[in-house]
Amino acid sequence: MTGLSKVVVLGAGNIGGSLAQRLAEMDLARELVLVDIVEGLPQGKALDIQESAPILGFSTRVSGSNELDVLADADVVVETAGLARKPGMSRSDLLAKNAGIVQTHAEAVRAFAPKATVLVVTNPVDVMTYWFRKITGFPTARVFGESGTLDTARFRWFVADLLGVAPRDVTGFVLGSHGDTMVPILSLTSVGGVPLTRLLPPERLAAIVERTQKGGGEIVNLLKSGSAYYAPSASQAELVRAIALDEHRLLSASAGLDGAFGERDVYIGVPVVLGRAGVERIVEVDLTPAERQAFGASVAAVRADLDILNRLGGAPGA
Ligand code: LAC
Repeated sequence: MTGLSKVVVLGAGNIGGSLAQRLAEMDLARELVLVDIVEGLPQGKALDIQESAPILGFSTRVSGSNELDVLADADVVVETAGLARKPGMSRSDLLAKNAGIVQTHAEAVRAFAPKATVLVVTNPVDVMTYWFRKITGFPTARVFGESGTLDTARFRWFVADLLGVAPRDVTGFVLGSHGDTMVPILSLTSVGGVPLTRLLPPERLAAIVERTQKGGGEIVNLLKSGSAYYAPSASQAELVRAIALDEHRLLSASAGLDGAFGERDVYIGVPVVLGRAGVERIVEVDLTPAERQAFGASVAAVRADLDILNRLGGAPGA
């Protein structure tokens, strides 16, 4: 099966708007709806994107709404709503506020789009994806989070830039949480098939790892009034395309673990195969002892945020 009948993007901020543009231009769905609480914002962005169709040649019908009942019959929902970071904030600082928004949306998806596959982007994303899944009660295969595809894109770019090679020839994985404890997996990174560890000395590799871990913050510090959206929306569009076209892509995404990597009852970035059914399987790759230890620390960081969420008694102010 290829193509989707309806995609709904919740949140028409910088990420939602940029993602809607990319998805429309990729012509993946018959209908694309942008939803936001701000009156006129989703309608305005949708119409603006729609008016580019004659030039760009896509057939997707793009609309905007302030109502959650437009979720009806959605095949794919992307949750982008919530506050973004400002300089000096960690993604975890957003937890309490964004949990309330995510709860409202998850309840609406459960009611209006019970068969949808959901991509969660709202930060802190591993925790919000867990929360979204818990509220909907959907199978874990149908709820997953963005995290690793974006971090991996940043990592791949830094490697490509340093080596002076085409970005697409760098492949690799960033696993773990979408936060400062994320784990770029050097042992699984290659450039046109050549292991990265043969191309760069350890100190250069360490610098790329650190820049990747702070990659989102680097953009926040430059923009000062929000966080990144061009690379994030490109990564989200790649994930939606994998579902729409049933591509069985092997990508890094935040998935619900039920024993894989020795963990359960947590969402975290791992290699997954993505197709029309959502997360078809988790690929449990061998990690070096140091990578496994770093992955464990990343899981612990997500569990600490899950504890905060539970102490809040779920989501306040939903
Ligand atoms: C980033 C935000 C979107 O990493 O989490 O840019």
